[in-house]
Amino acid sequence: TFVVTENCIKCKYTDCVEVCPVDCFYEGPNFLVIHPDECIDCALCEPECPAEAIFSEDELPDGQQAFIELNAELAEVWPNIAEKKDPLPDAEAWDGKDGKLELLER
Ligand code: SF4
Ligand code: F3S
Repeated sequence: TFVVTENCIKCKYTDCVEVCPVDCFYEGPNFLVIHPDECIDCALCEPECPAEAIFSEDELPDGQQAFIELNAELAEVWPNIAEKKDPLPDAEAWDGKDGKLELLER
């Protein structure tokens, strides 16, 4: 399955949702997640993310392991999103910043 990781937080570009053939993205206030039971591993979303926040769970960067469980947990409670919308207002400024996990809103 594919996993949305930390750099999506406070950016939320949403380019990813447009290409997903099974619409398995779920949206929170400042982050998106992928439902692990719905993702068909097509990899289409990975190159679409301007923040390079999407990885296969087998290829997660160091320090991003917690996002496997976070995607699974939050996909159960957040609403589905299948259409692109504007990024968050300061997306460009937040892209690439460290320590965004503590800024995740639920
Ligand atoms: Fe959707 Fe494919 Fe990305 Fe999984 S890998 S979230 S199925 S676009
Ligand atoms: Fe987030 Fe990238 Fe999608 S920033 S909303 S994973 S395009």
